[in-house]
Amino acid sequence: MALGASVEILDLRHFAATLLRPVLDAEGEVWKQRLHWDYRTSARLLMQYLDNHMLPGYAALEAEQVTGYVFCVYEETKAVIGDVFAMPTPDQSAHTVEQTLLRHLLELLLNSPQVERVESQLLLHPSGTHAAVFASSGFEMYRRLFLVQQIAEIARAPQVDLPAGVDLRAWTDEDLAPAARLIAEAYRGHPDSLINDQYRSVAGSMRFLNNIVRYSGCGAFSPQVSHVIVERTSRELVALILGSRVSPQSGHITQVCVHPEFRRRGLARMLLALTAQRFLRQGATEISLTVTESNTEAVDLYLAERYTCRHTFDAAVWQRHRTA
Ligand SMILES: CC(C)(COP(=O)(O)OP(=O)(O)OC[C@H]1O[C@@H](n2cnc3c(N)ncnc32)[C@H](O)[C@@H]1OP(=O)(O)O)[C@@H](O)C(=O)NCCC(=O)NCCS
Repeated sequence: MALGASVEILDLRHFAATLLRPVLDAEGEVWKQRLHWDYRTSARLLMQYLDNHMLPGYAALEAEQVTGYVFCVYEETKAVIGDVFAMPTPDQSAHTVEQTLLRHLLELLLNSPQVERVESQLLLHPSGTHAAVFASSGFEMYRRLFLVQQIAEIARAPQVDLPAGVDLRAWTDEDLAPAARLIAEAYRGHPDSLINDQYRSVAGSMRFLNNIVRYSGCGAFSPQVSHVIVERTSRELVALILGSRVSPQSGHITQVCVHPEFRRRGLARMLLALTAQRFLRQGATEISLTVTESNTEAVDLYLAERYTCRHTFDAAVWQRHRTA
């Protein structure tokens, strides 16, 4: 379907937040219906950036109304496409608007010599929705699953059967640096480090953690549900689980990982059960998490823990290849 002649694609930085409000409200409804996720905190943050005219991206304008937007953020030489959304319509035109917005942004990024890498995980959009746009621009695509567990079904208390020499305790802010070291170790050669290059280094993992823990980049971080397992002598972390609240009814696990030397001893299973119990105490009725389909160890773990797939989405990655 071609874009109607009346739709203009313009630089997002020209638009004040109030002009995007109807689109963000409509998007919030879809987040709520599809993922049980309260989008209002993210929308508020976006509106601050919009009002500061700092958000790179494009808006779709039709009959003087903003009907869609796309944006990205820059991290040094990487651009991360944060979101694309167009006001739902009874026909296919919203999809066409989103594709047009994405094409404009990709053209900008791929033609910017300082951009070496582009990553995108459009969590809201079912897998395949925009795959053709990314694939035709040379992106690698990875299917990811949005899994959900109904907590009330989890009757059993977590089995705490720890290996000798380690302790389990709640998360504290002092865990940030050791957690970054654990994540870099746990994701070495892992499929998720192809999708998110932050996992490939301790400094990158620290950025990932700061975003989750300090800036609530993925829901409101909850130290009460988040736990670490610590080796007593070295004080290094051997496992961790981090959780955030994404709505009154839903908790979200933003990270779970175990050091390779401590795997297959039931630590992840125990941490998941513990977190479920803590979310339940906070009044949540379900927990969600995302996992890459090819990460079969983790998928097997979650399915064994009675998580079910509510939704699938795509991660897309593009890397500039320089010729010498
Ligand atoms: C996935 C991960 C957290 C599992 O941690 P773990 O402590 O080894 O998992 P557990 O010992 O609790 O395993 C529980 C169940 O998960 C499944 N599982 C875990 N590792 C598996 C593997 N290597 N192969 C097959 N199944 C596996 C099994 O069903 C296992 O039960 P069983 O041992 O009774 O057969 C760990 O492998 C890891 O840190 N991976 C890298 C980071 C990652 O992928 N995190 C998840 C991102 S969504």
